[in-house]
Amino acid sequence: MSAAQLLIDTDPGVDDALAILMAHAHADIAGLSIAAGNVGLDHTVRNARTLVDLLDADIAVFAGCATPLVRAPDEDAAFVHGRDGFGDVGFPPPAAAVANESAASALLRLTRERPGELTLVALAPLTNLALALRLDPTLPQRVARLVVMGGAVTGHGNTGRVPAEFNLGFDPEAAHVVFEGFPHFQLVDWEATLRHALDQEAFDRWLQAGDHRADFYARIGRTARAYNLAHDRRGVIAADALAMAVAIDPSIVVRSERRAVAVELDGQLTRGATVVDWAGRLGRPANADIVLEVDHARFSAMVRRALGA
Ligand code: BDR
Ligand code: CA
Repeated sequence: MSAAQLLIDTDPGVDDALAILMAHAHADIAGLSIAAGNVGLDHTVRNARTLVDLLDADIAVFAGCATPLVRAPDEDAAFVHGRDGFGDVGFPPPAAAVANESAASALLRLTRERPGELTLVALAPLTNLALALRLDPTLPQRVARLVVMGGAVTGHGNTGRVPAEFNLGFDPEAAHVVFEGFPHFQLVDWEATLRHALDQEAFDRWLQAGDHRADFYARIGRTARAYNLAHDRRGVIAADALAMAVAIDPSIVVRSERRAVAVELDGQLTRGATVVDWAGRLGRPANADIVLEVDHARFSAMVRRALGA
């Protein structure tokens, strides 16, 4: 199998970092477009540059929108990822540059330069993708695949608005634009993430045995780990890493269901919730392959190698 060519939209973020380490270890990265989400855009851009330094790689970083498309978000995820998104370790200013081109414009340009070659991997609120789509609705025709980490397909979300998952809840309008604009995408939701938590003891062994990437991850992951322990979340929960595994190698998917998926924009209690037409009642085109199960051993092996263990 030839390596996947990945264009990654991300808001690093601890699990984003693990996903990017995986992409670097197992695929080719065409660029990182950066969204606000887990923390503010200044932090997520800086964190992406810190990762590029760590990997000593020639990867372009494109800054995107600092706010959601329409409404201000009611929460970020600093309480999980740390105030700076990377566990408040206090890294020195990164050397890697930010490109002089916006994320949306880079998404359009890179897919024009390499039509049909790039898999778009969305690990963040979908603001940048939505903006790119509004500028050029033919974007979906030029990407090989779109893999989205987002949603909670039976309403078991992870935000203050109970049924909403973070990436969709942060910018529901953007998710709406993307779900309407892409005729087909793979959806890796929060509930799949919980079912595919990595074994904590094995993960700790990889962190011990791994190289500088493992050391880095151990440092940035402390806040998220403490949060998960305090909230009785078992194992290592790494949403973006699971989506990245699917992007790198789609044959890792063991079970999925194709359904029409939309996002609620108006509900007083449900804004940002994922709406799945499980019974096919609406007659809407089934736009999403909802990933329900992946090969856990292969997923784990991909993570382990990305940490150099
Ligand atoms: C998603 O939200 C973020 O906190 C994570 O980075 C992931 O992309 C999980 O709901
Ligand atoms: Ca993310």
